[in-house]
Amino acid sequence: MALNKSPYRGTRDFFPAEMRKRQFIFQKMAEVSELFAYEPYDGPILEEVELYLAKSGEELINEQIYSFTDRGDRKVAIRPEMTPTVARMAAQVHREIAKPIRWYSIPNLMRYEKPQKGRLREFWQYNADVFGAGEHGEVEIIQLAVAIMKSFGATHEHFEIDLNDRRVVDAIFKTLLGLDDQAALKLYKVVDKVKKVNEEGLQKMTKEIITDEAKQALFYEYLKIATFPDLHAYLEKNGLAEATKEFSHFTKRLEDMGLNIYVKYDPTIVRGLDYYTGVVFEVFDKHPDNRRAVAGGGAYANLLQIFNEPALPGVGFGLGDVTFTDFLVTHGLMPDFSKTDVDLLIAYLTDAAEKECFLLAEQMRSRGIKTEVIFGESKPKKVFTQSEKKNYRFVAMMGQDELQKSEVQVKNLETREAHTIHLLDMEKLTDLIKGTK
Ligand code: HAM
Repeated sequence: MALNKSPYRGTRDFFPAEMRKRQFIFQKMAEVSELFAYEPYDGPILEEVELYLAKSGEELINEQIYSFTDRGDRKVAIRPEMTPTVARMAAQVHREIAKPIRWYSIPNLMRYEKPQKGRLREFWQYNADVFGAGEHGEVEIIQLAVAIMKSFGATHEHFEIDLNDRRVVDAIFKTLLGLDDQAALKLYKVVDKVKKVNEEGLQKMTKEIITDEAKQALFYEYLKIATFPDLHAYLEKNGLAEATKEFSHFTKRLEDMGLNIYVKYDPTIVRGLDYYTGVVFEVFDKHPDNRRAVAGGGAYANLLQIFNEPALPGVGFGLGDVTFTDFLVTHGLMPDFSKTDVDLLIAYLTDAAEKECFLLAEQMRSRGIKTEVIFGESKPKKVFTQSEKKNYRFVAMMGQDELQKSEVQVKNLETREAHTIHLLDMEKLTDLIKGTK
């Protein structure tokens, strides 16, 4: 029986054109992270399931995790997110290393989700996290998210950062609505789904948690808040002005950094993962055809405690490659990677020139020019057909005549300009190619 050529459902094969896009995206993300002094790290693809049981939340554990029992009877999971891993790693070294710890990584993750636009089963997720920095770290993380988006040419017209603070939401849910921890957690799940359900669905879910009608009304009023001043007014009116102290301070700092053009208050951002304890946010695509979260993150104060370590505040975010690629494509910000980026194609029109051509290729590579040699004697027609298929920038050909004179015929395939270059004058060829980059 013939096997299926397609990859496993919800995963992708990255052919070279796709790989070029991926590399472009990851390289830029790494560059920007390093400009902010974040250092790269990575962890294992497998973790013990327990790591996620502690604080990641029911949805991830019950519905999305890929897990199995290994030969040693351990319950193992393919990592569905990076935060528990980075917290585990920080827990090992935080006593010895300088703080704040600023780390970034671009792991592949797996979640058992229904594959659809923006959601796959295997995806890559850029992660940046800071440990031991408090509010300064929170502001820096927003700055970093903005810098990454900007490095791809995105502006505040393309994306916004929707913000909330779990301390504020906790005060509303627990003090104002009188919910206990468990009911509050359930209401978090409802809020997390608000954008996906209709009015009727929302009311049904709400009534199961809040029975008092006046309190239900307060909750619906909360969900309608659209600006920071409205949030303050709501909290003040309900005797909760104190609850917004840290959040106000944080948003003021964002303003000081000129970041207010990117941020917006959104009461429905609470995040699906249980470990968040403070500021939470999502980077949202503003394009009407692609209105979805490109990235999400927030502050988590207690994650290291699951390893019996003292609390060390962390804050970070994850930005998925699937949603980010959609974002770039939707806004016309993805460069064309359909063609190879090889600089020079070398062909010999007589077997006698084979050795010279291979040596020429070696010389060019040592000068940083990406070079390919066509194997075997070629006819000029074959050379041009090949170069069109892959879109090389230059082609160099050596026939009997050129061999005798120690020369190559070089053609710039974009401008169609032709040059005869002596083999002892490799600098000229290098400058010619580099000069057009
Ligand atoms: P998350 O909201 O679960 O957060 O994921 C963050 C981003 O990863 C999403 O906004 C989306 O771009 C991408 N993503 C998530 N699931 C999928 C999927 N099935 N297919 C494609 N892309 C997906 C976290 O994972 C947190 N651990 C982020 C974080 C880091 N918080 C603090 N530090």
